[in-house]
Amino acid sequence: MFLITPIAKVTTDIAVLAWDVSLTLINLVSPKRKVGQVTPHGYAGVDGKWPEFIPAKEGDSRCSCPALNAMANHGILPRDGKNISFKELNHTIRTTYNFAPSFCFFVPNFAANMLKKKYGKDRFDLAELDLHNGIEHDASLLRRDLYFEPNQATIHVPYVKELLESATGKDADGNALLTIPDLSLISSKRRAEARAENPEFSLSKFHKMFGSSNSSTLLTIFGGRVRDLETVLLEERLPEAWESRIREPYGLTLMTFNKTVLKVEKGIDETKFAPAAAASAETTSRSSVQKPTEETS
Ligand SMILES: *[C@@H]1O[C@H](CO)[C@@H](O)[C@H](O)[C@H]1NC(C)=O
Ligand SMILES: *[C@@H]1O[C@H](CO)[C@@H](O)[C@H](O)[C@H]1NC(C)=O
Ligand SMILES: *[C@@H]1O[C@H](CO)[C@@H](O)[C@H](O)[C@H]1NC(C)=O
Ligand SMILES: *[C@@H]1O[C@H](CO)[C@@H](O)[C@H](O)[C@H]1NC(C)=O
Repeated sequence: MFLITPIAKVTTDIAVLAWDVSLTLINLVSPKRKVGQVTPHGYAGVDGKWPEFIPAKEGDSRCSCPALNAMANHGILPRDGKNISFKELNHTIRTTYNFAPSFCFFVPNFAANMLKKKYGKDRFDLAELDLHNGIEHDASLLRRDLYFEPNQATIHVPYVKELLESATGKDADGNALLTIPDLSLISSKRRAEARAENPEFSLSKFHKMFGSSNSSTLLTIFGGRVRDLETVLLEERLPEAWESRIREPYGLTLMTFNKTVLKVEKGIDETKFAPAAAASAETTSRSSVQKPTEETS
């Protein structure tokens, strides 16, 4: 269901999922890449050396996704964030973050379909990805809802700080780590608050899963490491010597990722934060626009 139902090309999806399952199995029996050697030779970030970081300037195109903005800020994607091909996105997210090839095709292909563009020949600007309720959706952990903040590239610093401060895990050296329950809890809070304060709030089942996918990226690719995430989420920069925490040679597959997504989503309980708002939400359709002055049932 996750990321799958809304796509027209069912056969492509079945092929991608079969491919994904086989990559998952190959990963299981293959040795992991060594720490310090995850980023492949010949690509940006090898030996922990990322190309120069230059923050976006006036007129550059950026979006609600910190991982993609960071790639543009380092020049791995065009620095102006414009005229990007879906293929280029596929190749660069593979080498930068070590998502599996199946994942790296699936997501750009999904984006192309969402924008009614052709994966093979069309191009896009990062800001175009923020089509509301396409990929971009309410109750973000990092952005104010579109209703309050039309430019979804704008980092909402208090949300990011609250997210990072909510970390309860620790690694062997005592560094803070975000955990699955941390992400479920902060997501519960953001959803309850957004539902209560945004008169145009909507969050379908699909977008809930998508939101939990973002959380799962923080936990998997970034290993939940708060110190790294401070740089990634607040500056949209890859830290010095950073590498993906996924060491499997074929990267993070959809199937493996899905396990974390489902755990994060399952642990979300809005009633912990706004019993009244969450209870009334049960009576209206999940994706309907809720206006306080009109009944929508
Ligand atoms: C976008 O890139 C393509 C391929 O490099 C190029 O042909 C085209 O002119 C570019 N479009 C713009 C608006 O820069
Ligand atoms: C996606 O990128 C990989 C390289 O990482 C390449 O092998 C594959 O052919 C690309 N797929 C498409 C459909 O562009
Ligand atoms: C997940 O990412 C999308 C795209 O960047 C964003 O619109 C959405 O609000 C995020 N969801 C959460 C829960 O952070
Ligand atoms: C993710 O899990 C759901 C629920 O178990 C399942 O329906 C879906 O097919 C899975 N997706 C992938 C890519 O494994």
